[in-house]
Amino acid sequence: MARQPEEDFNMNGVDSSPTLESKSFSLTDDCHHYQRRADVPWDIQKYWEQRYSIFSLYDEGIHMTDDAWFGVTPEPVARQIASDLVASTPSSKTVIIDIFAGAGGNAIAFALSNRWSAIIAIEKEASVIACAQNNARIYGVADQITWINDDSFSYLKQNQTSIDRSKTVIFASPPWGGPNYSLDGVFNLKTMLPYSIKDIHTACEGMDSALFLPRTSNLKQIARLAPKGKKVEVVQYCMEGASKALVAYVPAVA
Ligand SMILES: C[S@@+](CC[C@H](N)C(=O)[O-])C[C@H]1O[C@@H](n2cnc3c(N)ncnc32)[C@H](O)[C@@H]1O
Repeated sequence: MARQPEEDFNMNGVDSSPTLESKSFSLTDDCHHYQRRADVPWDIQKYWEQRYSIFSLYDEGIHMTDDAWFGVTPEPVARQIASDLVASTPSSKTVIIDIFAGAGGNAIAFALSNRWSAIIAIEKEASVIACAQNNARIYGVADQITWINDDSFSYLKQNQTSIDRSKTVIFASPPWGGPNYSLDGVFNLKTMLPYSIKDIHTACEGMDSALFLPRTSNLKQIARLAPKGKKVEVVQYCMEGASKALVAYVPAVA
């Protein structure tokens, strides 16, 4: 039986504010399911070749916007992160908010892990959230996720009194833009664009967070996020012998 997301929120620490209503989003002309290499724009052909590593059910009708191909977390990595969160998160945490949901790679894996009473996926681009919801339907988990088409920073601010921080974990896979991305040996999280590590960490205040960042991220900058007396765990996630990204697991400041 399909779960009722809004009931879950009420049971698990987020109130029934109107912004929690989960809507259905329609695919737009920007959402594509490319079936032939010839139809794929040249700059994403490399990613299209890897489509089954990105979504094993690609052929079932996975849709993405052209930009979403660059940021989507490949399924084996997303599943491992979801499984690591299952192992490391205390049972008192029941809600996970994916604040940069993209095409749904991580949100789908969180739902498939059957760990969370409530999963909230926030994405600011309407076409991208429509793809994510479509993709979650393909994996049979769309109804387990509450879909919010909004700016995450505004959403977290607007709902600050209704989100029970003690029960909530934030997952953040932000865009990795910035002057130094892929050029510098060490990725500077302070100049990451459009959001610096500080912007994201501040938005997560009072909640445990898992930050999906470039594999070469500056570890000193990450270490500074550790609350006094606690540590930040950093895990590199590899596929075929190469790291795709790291995740910094940051405890909330008590
Ligand atoms: C790297 S992608 C996330 C990919 C996602 N983890 C996946 O597996 O598909 C980052 C996403 O964040 C979205 N985004 C950027 N700023 C945002 C904001 N302020 N609020 C919500 N979404 C935002 C972008 O539109 C983009 O789709």
